[in-house]
Amino acid sequence: MDGNINELISDLRTYLEYLKGMGITSLPVAENVPKEAPRSETLTLADVRTELGDCKRCKLHRARKTIVFGEGNEKATLMFIGEGPGYDEDMQGRPFVGRAGQLLTKIIESINLSREEAYIANIIKCRPPQNRNPEPDEIESCNPFLMKQIRVIQPKIICALGAFSAQTLLKTDTKITALRGKLYDLEGIKVIPTYHPAFLLRNPERKREVWEDMKKIAELIQGQ
Ligand code: URA
Repeated sequence: MDGNINELISDLRTYLEYLKGMGITSLPVAENVPKEAPRSETLTLADVRTELGDCKRCKLHRARKTIVFGEGNEKATLMFIGEGPGYDEDMQGRPFVGRAGQLLTKIIESINLSREEAYIANIIKCRPPQNRNPEPDEIESCNPFLMKQIRVIQPKIICALGAFSAQTLLKTDTKITALRGKLYDLEGIKVIPTYHPAFLLRNPERKREVWEDMKKIAELIQGQ
């Protein structure tokens, strides 16, 4: 084996010296350059869904019924990102379809957009058992897919729903009361956190603040 390699190296050296003698001092290597990953402009949501497959990258796959990938307009200006699927979402495979989802639909419609015009996703795509908070390894497994979805959609604005979503996207532990209604940046996309619709169901007196945040979003969309 060693003998073969030495012979190969010796042959290669002879060949390179021969080329050098001919005045050739560099070699094209283009064919050996690894192909670049497709850029987001060419990637589609269907590609991201295919890559996700029947995901078993984290332990949440064991108890989930359905992967909740996300839904809406592939070219949405406005994207909503919640925490993770609950019971109804896990059953139907669609984000925000339970009571909180019905309220989210009304919130979207309050600025004269339809659910279908926006894109709705979650930080994690599988329901945690007993709706417990997602764990760091689960978020880490899921995050590359959410980031790809964001890069495909390239929304102008992401509305982060609730503390968990806002803190994960913005990599901060600042409280949602301090984060909400302000503008942040994620890869050049404006992020505006607001309260989670499930929180509003329990605290309807906080709806006024969400309305303020939605008006800000509407102004940003109009001024784009
Ligand atoms: N809560 C979320 O954060 N996401 C959903 O999809 C449903 C409820």
